[in-house]
Amino acid sequence: MIFRLIIILLFSVNYVFSQEGLKIYSKYCVGCHAPNLRGVDSKTDLFKNRFTKKYIERQISQGIPNTTMVSWKNILSADELSSVAEYILSFQDNDLESDKKIKTDTVNSEQYKLVIQSIVGEKLKTPWAIEFISRDSALISEKRGSLKWMINNVIQSDSIEGLPKTYLKSSTGGYMDIALDPDYEKNKFIYLAYSFTNGNYDDKNALALTKIVRAKIIDNQWTSEQTLFEVPDSLMVRNGNRWGCRLYFDPEGYLFFSIGDMGRAMDSQDLSKATGKIFRIHADGSIPEDNPFADRSGVLKAIYSIGNRNVQGIDRNPQTGDIWASEHGPRGGDELNIINKGDNYGWPLVTYGLNYNGSVISDKTHMEGMVQPVTQWTPSIAVCPILFVSSDNYTKWDNNLLVGALAFQELRRLVIKDDEILKQEIIWKGKGRIRDIKLGKDKFIYVVTNGPDRVLKILPY
Ligand code: HEC
Repeated sequence: MIFRLIIILLFSVNYVFSQEGLKIYSKYCVGCHAPNLRGVDSKTDLFKNRFTKKYIERQISQGIPNTTMVSWKNILSADELSSVAEYILSFQDNDLESDKKIKTDTVNSEQYKLVIQSIVGEKLKTPWAIEFISRDSALISEKRGSLKWMINNVIQSDSIEGLPKTYLKSSTGGYMDIALDPDYEKNKFIYLAYSFTNGNYDDKNALALTKIVRAKIIDNQWTSEQTLFEVPDSLMVRNGNRWGCRLYFDPEGYLFFSIGDMGRAMDSQDLSKATGKIFRIHADGSIPEDNPFADRSGVLKAIYSIGNRNVQGIDRNPQTGDIWASEHGPRGGDELNIINKGDNYGWPLVTYGLNYNGSVISDKTHMEGMVQPVTQWTPSIAVCPILFVSSDNYTKWDNNLLVGALAFQELRRLVIKDDEILKQEIIWKGKGRIRDIKLGKDKFIYVVTNGPDRVLKILPY
């Protein structure tokens, strides 16, 4: 117990320092050692050696005689020395077996010079989502049906046991998003969305659909599982594709989730079917009384909005309090929407896209009673996660929307004012399909991809 406490204390100290460390480094050291620590020449390259914290602190404090590396003893306090040393150490792979430096890349974006740290490489298999539990630990879902711990940037090898089996006979199915209960500290509930069947898991033609459960992980065991949302076989789909599913808890504690159209476009307009919708439930799976269709019969009362082809990004605009969602279009017509209770987003009656084979789905982009997107992307970038930025580490990006794309492998930054997109910046392209974007508890942005660098951390200057 005491040991645990000490560990927690050590970790929280690290955190304060590494955030502070970036600030000190950008102020005093970046000119000679460069944002990515690679230096301006071979001597100032802080990447060539593996350091201990003591060694770095000593070099900074005493300086190196007869070089431009002066003593910083009188300029930096002991805490500042420690925090900048921690920051330099954050570029070292924490995996002691690997004895490597963390791979980095620099990107000159419009507002910041960015150092992109690749903190996890190919140790993860097709990650889908990340949730930070504390400053130093996160849970990551992998598509083929596993959850992994990332502790101090290292993926733990002992797997979590007792997880539900997932249906993998559809190329896009498997484990999808995870979420933490808003009251996680107290109740330890973790939410999971995955492809589910009551039938045979090896049968390509089994009836299947997205299912939402919650459980606790105790001693690496998935326990006390409760089903929050599932449909009877009569509402499941054979050979389906486009499962969703993004989970999102709003500040009032409602759980939003999405299910894609599973290739049944017209069912997106049918209130008795689960496909092509966004849902809203309470954390225990019960239906909010004020859900838009809660008083109708013959409908799924968990439905919150309809006509949503395949939503894989949900977040809340902190300025307006509105829920925003990204939606995959067919060939063209990826959308960004503001989701309002009971609204119809039009799929497939109105769309900016064509069928994959080029044939027309609908000749209409507008229709009475159908909500227009805030913006749409044609050709489709294959829009996936979205995140409204709100962190002291990126004040110039305040309330910007980060958007990740699968096929286009882009991270975009959208500047928004009065629900309009003023501009879009492509921050990077080609680092793999982007599956998730989250703010860590350290208030830095983390990006999960299916490229060689599975978890990336963004450091701004
Ligand atoms: C004016 C340029 C300059 C500035 C500013 C500067 N350094 Fe240095 N630093 C150097 C040079 C040059 C060396 C290498 C000296 C040598 O060994 O020849 C060095 C070496 C180091 C080393 C040892 C590297 C090794 O491989 O042994 C560390 C650690 C270091 N600096 C950290 C810092 C920190 C932290 C700051 C900011 C507080 C900082 N430096 C600011 C120029 C600078």
